[in-house]
Amino acid sequence: MIVLDGKKTAQDLKEEIKITVSEIRKDGQRSPHLAAILVGNDGASLTYVGSKVRSCKYVGFNSTLIHLDESTSEEILLKKIIELNHDDELDGYIVQLPLPNHINEEKILLAIDPKKDVDGFHPSNFGRMALEMDAFIPATPFGIMELLERYQIETTGKHCVVIGRSHIVGRPISILMSQKGQAGNATVTVAHSRTQDLVSLTKNADIIVMALGIPEYLRADMIKKGVTVIDVGITRVADENHPKGYIIKGDVAYDEVAAKAAAITPVPGGVGPMTIAMLLKNTLIAFQRKN
Ligand code: GUN
Repeated sequence: MIVLDGKKTAQDLKEEIKITVSEIRKDGQRSPHLAAILVGNDGASLTYVGSKVRSCKYVGFNSTLIHLDESTSEEILLKKIIELNHDDELDGYIVQLPLPNHINEEKILLAIDPKKDVDGFHPSNFGRMALEMDAFIPATPFGIMELLERYQIETTGKHCVVIGRSHIVGRPISILMSQKGQAGNATVTVAHSRTQDLVSLTKNADIIVMALGIPEYLRADMIKKGVTVIDVGITRVADENHPKGYIIKGDVAYDEVAAKAAAITPVPGGVGPMTIAMLLKNTLIAFQRKN
């Protein structure tokens, strides 16, 4: 059994990006610059955004965190977005999701300049991705593809079952894995909350991508031997024994599934770190396209 080590792979990627940044600097150019807008104080979002900013510093990017109050109006947020769209010193930015309920997420995502949309959430980028044109690919599915590629997991002709149809993970990974190219050419089934007889699908899967958000949902009796399992779940589960008061759980019952699998991503240390590395990669691409 191979552990698909996202922590190590993400570190390798960051080292590669760091080298490119030092070459850019030697050339007399400014560093690539990523900004993140965070509205409110959601605990998980604060952690993710903090991690993104730290990773920027590590590779030598400039980073800006725009932390707005929970009560910020949609109008003020839109103004900020227009400002970032016009900022020539900024290559890319993200608006951390979820947004507070009084803000229309769709309206916000549509306002982002697709050239700076390093999350790949704008319909222009999503559409271009689906059409196999140059596009920013959402960081989590992009990270999964990179992990499959670097570990040379055979996907051609394999049956991949994606569980979850979110716009951020399930839907884009199902598109990417069915496309031509590396980590592609798979026969993909997208399962979701309305799917009937899910176990008959998972039992016949060569690759399973779990992007459901239900801790330890996938169990050993739902899979065949030799499957590759990608766990995108990162749910905080209360745990009094832990100093933080919670632990992070994936969508996979790791020990029992790992015992039967050929390859598996751990949680933490699997897909999570890859997401951040690929956001950096998208920012570098945005910088290179501009310059
Ligand atoms: N919330 C959860 N994942 C993501 C992500 O990849 N990007 C943004 N902007 N928000 C998120």
